Amino acid sequence: MPRTRTPLAAIVLAAGKGTRMKSNKAKVLHEVAGRPLAYYPVKRALELGASPVVVVVGHQAEAVEAALSAALPEAPLRFAVQEQQLGTAHAVLAAKRALRGYRGPVLILSGDTPLLRAETLEAVVSARRRARAAVSLATMTLEAPRGYGRVVRDARGRPSRIVEEKDATDAERAIREVNAGLYCVDAELLWKKLAKVGTANAQREFYLTDLVPMAAQAGGVAGVEVPAEEASGVNDRIELSRANRVMVGRLAEAFMRAGVTIEDPARFDCDEGVEIGADAVIEPNVRLRGRTRVGARTRVGAGAVITDGVLADGVTVNPYTVISEAQVAEGAILGPFSRLRPGADIGPEAHVGNFVEVKKSRLGKGAKANHLAYLGDAEIGAGANIGAGTITCNYDGERKNPTRIGDGAFIGSDSILVAPIEIGAGAYVAAGSTLTDPVPAGALALGRARQVTKEGWVAQRQAEKQMKGTATGPAPARKGRPAARRAS
Ligand code: UD1
Ligand code: CA
Repeated sequence: MPRTRTPLAAIVLAAGKGTRMKSNKAKVLHEVAGRPLAYYPVKRALELGASPVVVVVGHQAEAVEAALSAALPEAPLRFAVQEQQLGTAHAVLAAKRALRGYRGPVLILSGDTPLLRAETLEAVVSARRRARAAVSLATMTLEAPRGYGRVVRDARGRPSRIVEEKDATDAERAIREVNAGLYCVDAELLWKKLAKVGTANAQREFYLTDLVPMAAQAGGVAGVEVPAEEASGVNDRIELSRANRVMVGRLAEAFMRAGVTIEDPARFDCDEGVEIGADAVIEPNVRLRGRTRVGARTRVGAGAVITDGVLADGVTVNPYTVISEAQVAEGAILGPFSRLRPGADIGPEAHVGNFVEVKKSRLGKGAKANHLAYLGDAEIGAGANIGAGTITCNYDGERKNPTRIGDGAFIGSDSILVAPIEIGAGAYVAAGSTLTDPVPAGALALGRARQVTKEGWVAQRQAEKQMKGTATGPAPARKGRPAARRAS
């Protein structure tokens, strides 16, 4: 990543409401690849070596500050509050105090442009230095420049001013080169010139773009063309979804370059920060969220949703498995349709099969729970076999109680283990048992009613029915018995 050796500070403008999002939530808190919009310009500025990065907050200031501090805990971030949103120049001025004593270039970014790459920011920073200009300014050329400030260039081809759409003449509105909202400017000059910005414009706002004609007089303005697909901002939910697709597409490409197979990148969903090892295979419609890590050679089946899950190498996650805050050791096999809830810890080569729910439980090496079970607050030994329909009754209405199942124990199908309870190593639990007492190692426990078989009961019952029928009147006419079906 490019890093500037000279000092650099950054200001990220993130105080606006974002009216076109039609949301109760501030625009910069809406997410792209699992991170709030404003995270990205802040992160990119940090990657460039900017310190400090001042985030100007206003609308839902506390929530924006909390989200960014949580996402970037170690970063040299400062927050400046712009109480009222009186325009972009006013927003930059709100950062002045946080940058007191700082001398050198200041990079100014918008909180709603998540797709800018660090290289592009670097180009804007170095263009100013190279041209010895007072200000460098990113521009982009759009087919439909609606809504953006148009860049007016002077006879020598340098940007001389920016005119906002609402202030533009018809001729100016025809200009397709627009202000991308990314600037680099010397701090001293910035504070001196911003003090002179007024509100004599159509929106009665303090325009940061007024800096451009002032800088054109004092040292000149360097324009840097940047790719429109990077610099376009997010203003509504449609642009939000597009930005998300682009960002996830970039993550997918980086994974594929690093040796991960992503079967269909268009049907891949992933949060920024997820890690995937080489030769892992990600089938379509997988969603990887939060701090998820997928090991090398692990296969994640179609439709799996994994949030803060840690999968070791060589794990198989069959389709439609849902994992949250759980870990899975090497060679384990999950799903299809398994659910791992927080605290599930699946040992090496263990199997968790369809419709098995595991919460805050450990399965030892090679343990198997292949069908229809609930395992909560349980410690299950290596090689234990949990039959279909087993339930650990961990909750007595007041507290959660533990279940311990020893190595190699065999729990028969449809067993109810009322916790707290311990089943010793190698013990057998007969199918259909309801157990409330501990089972020592090597024992067999049966906790069910003994079977009663009554021979000839059906014929006897029919005879009784017929007797009743003749006593009260004629038996109802019966259709012929259905043809006997062959069992298949
Ligand atoms: C601004 C530029 C326009 C440029 C466009 C690029 C001005 C006057 N116009 O327009 O030339 O083409 O960006 O996207 O600067 N903000 C605050 N406080 C405020 C006002 C805005 O923090 O008082 C923040 C917003 O949250 C946003 C950023 O500044 O992150 C840009 O504001 P926005 O209102 O979107 O600017 P535009 O009017 O689109
Ligand atoms: Ca505006």
